Amino acid sequence: MAFRQTPCQIAHTDAALHGCVRRRPEPAIANPLQREPIDLMKLIHITDTHLVEPGLKLYGLDPKARLDAAIADINRHHSDAALAIVTGDLAHWGEVGAYRTFLHSMNGLFVPYVVLVGNHDSRAACLDVLAAAPRDAHGFVQGWHDTSCGRLLFLDTLDEKSHAGQMCELRLKWTARALTEAPANRPIYLFMHHPPFAVGLHAMDRIALAERAAFTEIIGPHRHRIRHLFFGHLHRPISGSWMGIPFSTLRGTNHQVWFDLSPDAPHLASHEPPSYAVVLIGEDTVVVHNHDYLDRSPRFAFSEPGVEERAYALGPVAQDAAFPVQ
Ligand SMILES: [Fe+2]
Repeated sequence: MAFRQTPCQIAHTDAALHGCVRRRPEPAIANPLQREPIDLMKLIHITDTHLVEPGLKLYGLDPKARLDAAIADINRHHSDAALAIVTGDLAHWGEVGAYRTFLHSMNGLFVPYVVLVGNHDSRAACLDVLAAAPRDAHGFVQGWHDTSCGRLLFLDTLDEKSHAGQMCELRLKWTARALTEAPANRPIYLFMHHPPFAVGLHAMDRIALAERAAFTEIIGPHRHRIRHLFFGHLHRPISGSWMGIPFSTLRGTNHQVWFDLSPDAPHLASHEPPSYAVVLIGEDTVVVHNHDYLDRSPRFAFSEPGVEERAYALGPVAQDAAFPVQ
């Protein structure tokens, strides 16, 4: 399906960023938060692609093939999205060749995209290869994207000496300013790699954002404006709220982190299915759909004309009627 470019209502902060927003046909309803009405917008959230040098497999899987499959699925079903955001761990060992491989794949995506860095990334290599990486005045991979739905704020939590996340003084100040100076009466959506809180996966909690208290202090005064927090790092589908801010994260496109909440659980990876998320932003809602894009289980109708509903459901008909996944 070809990507149809429609009039763009996103204020660009980087020439590599583009986005398209569709106007809502009906009048906006009264807003309980007393902010300006916002338009509908579809975003794509991808995370933890962990690309390696061409031809190599990582933990028995081909990261490029799995990213390519995600891109093909997005192109087929969601080419109308305004923007895709890849929340870090683009490359597993931060190699230039891996970023070139990532770029080769992403060049096939019909949707404009922006990338963040995670603990497996090299900031310099990422910035060298990927024009879709925002860059602030201090060389961090940070930026924002003002849209008709509000400000999309992209944060850099990479500490190149640790797998834990970092928010140094420079980045904290930058974040505080980006929040304070965001357009008035408009919502904010945060994107980062590391979660700024523990989620109960003990091995991952030890490498969450290190400066949680300082970051919480920066975010706190703005939390009523932050409609959603998106992050990666955990390689698991998790959602909830933090300081009243809804959040979501999802599986990576290559390997996953096994689910075990026991304090002494070994830190295990897994081959659970990869996913990407489709985010539908509306006047009163932010809806996040996780999609297991490699799932090939049968699809079938809930009923069939002329067949008694119970007999259909309990019999082999549903299996016979199953059709292959496109
Ligand atoms: Fe990762």
